[in-house]
Amino acid sequence: MLGLIERANYTLIRTDLLARERHASDMELRRLQATLASERHAAETNLRRLQAGGLFQLPQAHSRAEPKGGAVRPLHRITSDADFADDATINREWIEKLLASERFAAIELEFRGYPPGSFVSDTQRAFLFWLIRVMKPRAVAEIGTAFCGTSEIIARALWENGTGILHTTDPFGAERAPPIIRKWPEPLQDVTRFFPLSSMDFFIMLSEAKTMLDIAFIDGDHDFEFAYFDVLMAARLLRPGGVMVIDNTNQTGPYYAAAQFLHDNPDWIELGNAMTGFRSSQPFSIPRSSLPNSDCLLLKAPAAYSIGRIPRSPGQLEAGPRITGFSMNIATPKFHGLLHYRFVLRAFRDGNREIEEYKRAGKIALNSATTGDVLNHHLDPPLVSLMQERHGDCLHTLEIELAWEGSETPGTLQLSAPPKPIVGEYHGQI
Ligand SMILES: C[S@@+](CC[C@H](N)C(=O)[O-])C[C@H]1O[C@@H](n2cnc3c(N)ncnc32)[C@H](O)[C@@H]1O
Repeated sequence: MLGLIERANYTLIRTDLLARERHASDMELRRLQATLASERHAAETNLRRLQAGGLFQLPQAHSRAEPKGGAVRPLHRITSDADFADDATINREWIEKLLASERFAAIELEFRGYPPGSFVSDTQRAFLFWLIRVMKPRAVAEIGTAFCGTSEIIARALWENGTGILHTTDPFGAERAPPIIRKWPEPLQDVTRFFPLSSMDFFIMLSEAKTMLDIAFIDGDHDFEFAYFDVLMAARLLRPGGVMVIDNTNQTGPYYAAAQFLHDNPDWIELGNAMTGFRSSQPFSIPRSSLPNSDCLLLKAPAAYSIGRIPRSPGQLEAGPRITGFSMNIATPKFHGLLHYRFVLRAFRDGNREIEEYKRAGKIALNSATTGDVLNHHLDPPLVSLMQERHGDCLHTLEIELAWEGSETPGTLQLSAPPKPIVGEYHGQI
């Protein structure tokens, strides 16, 4: 466990964002992978010992977790690029039309019962395939690889697109997943990156690599607390307009994780009716799926970076020792209210043994009648790292937190992208 603890501490201070530390970070990742593999081996050995001693019996596995095996299909295109030439707006109507179409029925037939190691329904597999073909994602993430069945579908769609990478993770897959993936046609292997990591380490890794996602498939640990974390982190890394597919929403954990998330983030929409159909008097009623014959919720990210009453931060970013302000582009056409901001500049030195934080908070009154849609705000005086001035050998991160206290409903301010720090001298008007 030592590796895990060191890793958590390392992440806390986040200097692993910085290039000078990247090598050490890679080494830790390898150590972590080795630790996980040996822990899994130890757990399996214990399990075998317990079973041999007759203390308990595992249920006979003829569940879907036991793959039926079977040959991997050769690679051939099953759709034509012409079917995906138009820029489709992914919304409920689009999904309804798609599901009623003959083209979709053909894809559903194609993936009926295939791959046998996939844990989702035929409809869900076909939908994922189609969604990827339409969205042409640069990056797809899957939490919970299991037997790589759904991963194979995602890889096949990416291969047909000719672009995009699947990042898939499973902390219990170190010995299970790679041999399966190695049996795939090589072009599918080329678009797939498997990680034997828990979703927490996986999201840390994606954040460090600055990987933004277009589609996230959440299908890991289904307890509420784990599923909620996965939803929050996927939302943080999804690009505007990105889609999150949350599996097994007939179970309490994933469903209520999604419900809590939508409650706190009203700019996100469910691409279906599983949420609107919810009655608190029937907390366990099922089915609760955005798609028919399936068990998943589809959530779509807003088209912009949205600020509400709860402070929002894009996380710690690599920074210099001096910040003179920030700039942002407002996408909301009509706005009136107070923008609250807080800057946290963190300085690290001596292998993270010395850490200092410099903070600056303030608020700006904004009104669309008088404020333009580009805002450059000047910090007077600039926020500077005093530790850097004393020693000259620090690393820095910056976090910009924003909250919006608006008078209109829905009470959010939309930015076209997260705010950007200004680092040079400031010469203009505020
Ligand atoms: C339902 S299966 C995934 C099925 C797979 N996505 C599919 O569609 O075929 C759930 C997987 O999540 C993995 N898992 C459990 N805890 C996890 C965690 N903390 N992070 C990521 N994956 C986890 C399990 O090992 C298991 O293989």
